[in-house]
Amino acid sequence: MAKVNENLLSLGGRYLFSEIAARTGKFTAAHPEVRLIRMGIGDVTRPLVPSVIRAMHAAVEDCASAETFRGYGPEHGYDFLREAIVRTDYAGTGIDIDEVFVSDGAKSDTGNFGDLLSRDNLIGIPDPVYPVYADTGSIAGRPLRYIPCNEGNGFCGDIPSERLDAVWLCYPNNPTGAVISREKLARWVRYALENECLILYDSAYEAFIRDADIPHSIYEIPGAKECAVEFRSFSKTAGFTGVRCGYTVVPKDLKIRSANGRKISLNPLWERRQSCKFNGASYISQRGAEAVYSPQGRLEIREVIDAYLETASLIRRTFLEAGLTPCGGNNSPYIWARCPHGMSSWEFFDFLLARAGVVITPGAGFGAEGEGWFRTTAFASREATLEAMNRMKDIIK
Ligand code: MLT
Repeated sequence: MAKVNENLLSLGGRYLFSEIAARTGKFTAAHPEVRLIRMGIGDVTRPLVPSVIRAMHAAVEDCASAETFRGYGPEHGYDFLREAIVRTDYAGTGIDIDEVFVSDGAKSDTGNFGDLLSRDNLIGIPDPVYPVYADTGSIAGRPLRYIPCNEGNGFCGDIPSERLDAVWLCYPNNPTGAVISREKLARWVRYALENECLILYDSAYEAFIRDADIPHSIYEIPGAKECAVEFRSFSKTAGFTGVRCGYTVVPKDLKIRSANGRKISLNPLWERRQSCKFNGASYISQRGAEAVYSPQGRLEIREVIDAYLETASLIRRTFLEAGLTPCGGNNSPYIWARCPHGMSSWEFFDFLLARAGVVITPGAGFGAEGEGWFRTTAFASREATLEAMNRMKDIIK
């Protein structure tokens, strides 16, 4: 008889957002009259911008005629998109087109990248954390070292004194919305180079950065190409949560060691892994993603993100007025705050759902340091957010 991967059994329970969906579903079945406001999972609500829609329509038409039809594409993505990414997102960093691997989203890539790492690698994980890094590390049976990110360190974990083989960093951060300064990121890069530590840098939310001194990419830091992989997504940048497209940058200078101490380049290894397990993101999604980089597309997505950021500041203001000291919401769609009246995260989740019909994400779902905290997103409409703040303001005082 086949034997199960015991590591999966040890995960227990449901994936965080599945648990939230289950509790919410149960509540709506019992209270169909309540108009629920969802500020839990970071799912966008605004439609795709016109430039993306036009490009995707044209791509569908391409598929309707034998001359322009596309079947399997290159596993690492079409050059038209890789070129647009390098030209726009990595201008001035020296990142090359064959260092960019297009995929169906950052969730898959962050989950899959562990295939390249030995089982016994000691992995640093921020706490609280986007559950994918921790869960996939546990599924692989890797030792994980949690790095506390709390009010005391501005939700930017301290650089450890011990040697880690790899470390996850995510900025602007999911779930806390914290951002990292160029100086602090440079210190992480120095640590990584000195300790031969691989940085797994998730910058899925970089499009929300508005302060000029906050780095958008780790490759703005000298030396990062020798120690860091970067994950990006069109989900929040361009509303692709349903379309699915993202990419990962694996520089050719980036090397880790084999068991016999040889230096191995990760770029051809990721190409090998992807071509074996993945058949590429769809042509239609990639044409849509390419349109994000057109002058008109860039204007359009900026407007959408500005609107989400306005909603984020509305939430921040309400929380501040209620006496909370929220983190995030300035250069991020997430706002992180302490639960009122000493409630635990799940207590507050259930309480808010029952009393106000508002869905948030309990901080404890992101790790032990998140206990007693909650996360809201700025992706609901302005009207729905205003209504949610009205329903919440007396509860959180
Ligand atoms: C979140 O709410 O944390 C994100 O939407 C999850 C994701 O991007 O997979």
